[in-house]
This record gives sequence, C-alpha cells and structure tokens, in this order.
Amino acid sequence: MAPLDFKPNDFSEVPYSVYSDEQIYAQEQKQLFQGDAWHFLAMEIELPNAGDYKTMPVGDTPVIVVRDKNGNINAMVNRCAHRGNLVCIEDHGNLDCLTCVYHNWTYDLQGNLATIAFEKGIQGNGGMAEDFDKSCHSLQRLRVETYCGLAFGTFSDDVPSLTDYFGPEMCGNIQRLLGRDMELLGRFQHGLDGNWKLYMENVRDTYHATLLHSFMTTFRLNRLSMKGAVEVSEGGLHHLTYSIRAQDNDQGQYDAKEIRAQKDDYALKAPELLESWPEFECDTTLAIQSLFPNFSIQQLSNVITLRLIVPKGPNKSELTWWVLGAVEDTPEQRAMRIRQSNLVGPGGYIAMEDGAVVGWVRRGVTGAEDKKSILAMGGRDVERISESRCNELAVRGFWQGWHGLMES
Ligand code: FES
Ligand SMILES: [Fe+2]
Repeated sequence: MAPLDFKPNDFSEVPYSVYSDEQIYAQEQKQLFQGDAWHFLAMEIELPNAGDYKTMPVGDTPVIVVRDKNGNINAMVNRCAHRGNLVCIEDHGNLDCLTCVYHNWTYDLQGNLATIAFEKGIQGNGGMAEDFDKSCHSLQRLRVETYCGLAFGTFSDDVPSLTDYFGPEMCGNIQRLLGRDMELLGRFQHGLDGNWKLYMENVRDTYHATLLHSFMTTFRLNRLSMKGAVEVSEGGLHHLTYSIRAQDNDQGQYDAKEIRAQKDDYALKAPELLESWPEFECDTTLAIQSLFPNFSIQQLSNVITLRLIVPKGPNKSELTWWVLGAVEDTPEQRAMRIRQSNLVGPGGYIAMEDGAVVGWVRRGVTGAEDKKSILAMGGRDVERISESRCNELAVRGFWQGWHGLMES
C-alpha cells in the first residue's frame, strides 16, 4: 500500500493520507490495537475491590477491565458470546458476576460463561442444543500485566512481557514517577477533532513547546537551552523527553514570585498557580514519555498525568487524562498539584493548544492526501538519544515504530 512506502531508514517525510485513509485505519486496528502491542487499561487504584470494573476501548474494541475475587485484574472483550451484545453498559461499577441484559447469559469475573437462562428449556421443551458446551463460550480474554500500579492488556500471544516491551530506560521513568502509592486527583475526557496519531506526534514533538505554547514563553517556564535529552527506545516505539531544573542564573524561573511576562508589563495575578516544590532528587522538572501506540505519562513540574488517546474513526479521537498525586503528599503539596493542574486538560494554559492543533492540522491537510509532512529537524535518521530537544527525532521514531508494526 503506497502510504506505508517510507524510504529505508528514513521516516522524515510522512504522507498526509495516514491521517484520513480508511484502509490504513482498518489496518491499524488489526496490526496495532489487536496486534503486538500493550495497551493501557486502568490504574490499579481505579479498581480497589473485588468486583470493581470499568469499561473502555482498546482501539475500536470495547473491553471490560475487572478485579476478580483473587485480587487479579482481568480484561475481556465486552461482547456477549451469545449474540454480541455489550455485557457491561455502564462506565464503571461493582458486580458479583457479569450479566448480559439481552437474554441473561452470565459470566464470572474471569469471563467464563456461568449460566444461561432456560438452558434446559421450559417444562421439558426447548433449551440449548445438546452439543452446546458452555466451557467453549467464554468472553474473549486479553493478556493482562501490571507495572507500577498500571494495568496493560494485549490481544497478542507473541508480544514480549510488559517490561521487556517498554525496555529499561522507559521503565526507569515510570518507576521514578509512579513507583510509590499514588492517588487519583481527577480526570478529564474530551474529544479531539482529528486522527489519534496527530496527537501522538505532538506528544513526541519537543520542538514546538516554546513556539506554540505562548504561556510557556511568556512566563519563561521552559527553555530549549535547559539541560535535558530525548531518548527513543529500540525500534522507535517509545520515547522519553526530559529536562532538568535550571541552576544558578536560571533558578528564578520556577520561583513563582519571580514569574513575570517577558516584557515586564504584566504578571500572573495568581502566581501561586506555578508554586512548586523539588519533588525528585534528580531535579527533573519536565518529563514527557510516550508508550506505543497511544499512551503517555507526563510530569510538568509537580503535575503528574496519564494520557490515553483513543481513535474514534480516522478523523476523530478521544483524549482521557488522569491527574495524579502521591498518597504521602502533605495537604500543601496536594493543593499545589491541583492548582498546577490548570496547566493541563482540555482548557489547560499549556495543553489547550495541543488539542487545538490536532483539529487545525486535520483541516489543513484535507484534500492533500498525496502530499507529505516534513520531519527533518535534527536530521533525517532515527538515533536513540539526543541532548538537543530542538528536533523531531522522537516523531521520526514514532513513524519507525508504527511502520514496523503495520508491516509485521
Ligand atoms: S446477546 Fe447476551 S445473552 Fe443474548
Ligand atoms: Fe505541546
């Protein structure tokens, strides 16, 4: 198929058709979302008790994630083995067993078919065919693994274990941020007016931060000159960008009292919005990580978020944010995190433009399926690491990973 036709080892030009082509969308569902990749399902703290469940999509496939009576998290396709009805209709809840409302087939919390209404018929008449074997009609199960309180699922028997899939560098950042008792401070969910990959490109694009986000530059929150790096995992699948608290002469930029607009003609009316504390020994103040295909973990000062961008057809997607704190936070730290979280979410002072630009690019490339975008900042190859964040290395990495799985 022509749109997958990248030059060997060069992912610096991407045909615009990848954001709208129906066939590519269908191939992604098969090769990525039902293929050899792990997909974020839930935080373990969202399902604290036996019987707690949530429903969510993996790509286009509706999935039930549930904690069973042994404490394990299971995930099953939300599709009754009888005639395909959704078994769970609500977003979340607590149940002893899963019951399909259509004809009352019931499943246990591992997805095994337990009972069928009128299985033996009524007064000796009717009932299921004699050769029908309940044990052959469970809900379709996903493989599930958890790491640092995050549960992931896959339809693949071949994809390596979760930590091997992420690799040690990516696990290091997950452990740093989430390897402690966390609490959920809030959640945002909103639609985006474009293809899910436009958002994942944005997550990996370190070069736009000081250009698109005028809040950042106005209040001097981030400079590409700050010490940091971009790391791309083997094969391009995942990435991590980070920067480190500026020292000495740049120290003031994270001191809320010093926050002033560049031209000194106005300042934040509530500078406490940006009050922060040095949470990590490594002094990292910004870390953006993407885990292929559509999941991201982000630290922006003390705002720690998870993001999942779910495709809703070629031209639409849905973004969910989980905003997190640590159980050990003091009340002041918790309040600081909540105030700072105004930077993220659908109307966030920094995040708003990332959502908007997805729709603007979609509109911009409509009718230009035969043309290509350029990703040549920082060269054309896909190295594993760069100390410059003024580049499109990790975006090229995304396309390398995408291409590898789409062709597999
Ligand atoms: S479709 Fe579920 S019981 Fe019939
Ligand atoms: Fe951005």
